Amino acid sequence: MNDAAFSLPHRLRRNRRTAAIRGLVRETTLRAEQFIYPLFIKEGVGDEAIDSMPGCSRLSLDSLVREATAAHALGINAVVLFPAIDSLLKCPQAIECANPIGLVPRAIQRLKEELPELAVITDVALDPYNSDGHDGLVAPDGTILNDETVGLLCAQALSHAEAGADIVAPSDMMDGRVGAIRAALDHEGFTHVSILSYAAKYASAYYGPFRGALDSAPKAGDKKTYQMDPANAREALREAQMDEAEGADILMVKPAGPYLDIIAALRGATTLPIAAYQVSGEYLMIKSAAAAGWLDEKKVVLESLTGIHRAGADMILTYFARDAARWLRE
Ligand code: PBG
Repeated sequence: MNDAAFSLPHRLRRNRRTAAIRGLVRETTLRAEQFIYPLFIKEGVGDEAIDSMPGCSRLSLDSLVREATAAHALGINAVVLFPAIDSLLKCPQAIECANPIGLVPRAIQRLKEELPELAVITDVALDPYNSDGHDGLVAPDGTILNDETVGLLCAQALSHAEAGADIVAPSDMMDGRVGAIRAALDHEGFTHVSILSYAAKYASAYYGPFRGALDSAPKAGDKKTYQMDPANAREALREAQMDEAEGADILMVKPAGPYLDIIAALRGATTLPIAAYQVSGEYLMIKSAAAAGWLDEKKVVLESLTGIHRAGADMILTYFARDAARWLRE
């Protein structure tokens, strides 16, 4: 025996000694099928690079199909759509949000025709359509009107279901919208359409680059009267319980990286599947550090996604979905 060696009952390094052993003891594994790929769409031909989100573009519907096909070939089975709406179609009543032949319904139809097995998820909220840039209707005094907004969200969700959406994802944070959308879908025969509720969505500065992508930043005020205070954790459990009771199929936490404790808490408090959204600001921080040569993009992306999955997210919305799926195969 080496004189310097001493006997220890436990040496944790034994389980880390070789790649083969590390593989045996690994607790968390990322798979492309856990990813949901957010895609921005626009009218007309040609794509537009998004200044605030390097590497992302607003896609024409032809490009959308191409991008979704490429992602699907890498094992990604779900996309979520975000529309860039022409400013001429935006108004305080956000009427365009429920247009049955609007941009989102036509995008859903194209995807369903060309990639029928891909799950198509849609965002349900008014902000891309509302000239005030809020997720709900705005009263003259600036108040966000809850119940009036919920009625419009139901019409919006129905227009997506009619076009063939598999899952509608209300991101608006109005009270009672999950139950109202469930009832509206069921009443119209869409009992098979799922609801992925943004249950714990925080009033986060990390959404900045996304609002640049859709020109959807609030014109006045902020979103703090409907999105959650970043300081609160117990309240996330109340949101989750309420959405579960109202019929949500999947609960989401958003943003993801700075809210891992919330993901873990929800994981312990519900048997529903949990989604987490690695949002635009999280994306941009990694992208810009990598572009400057300060971080290894591939390693940091996979580590960030592993952390989110380890905290308890069954599925992750991430702008890195396509790259990450490719890296997982290398
Ligand atoms: C809007 C919505 C937002 C995001 C998804 N849906 C922005 C917001 O609430 O202001 C943000 C996504 C991201 O930052 O990547 N209902």
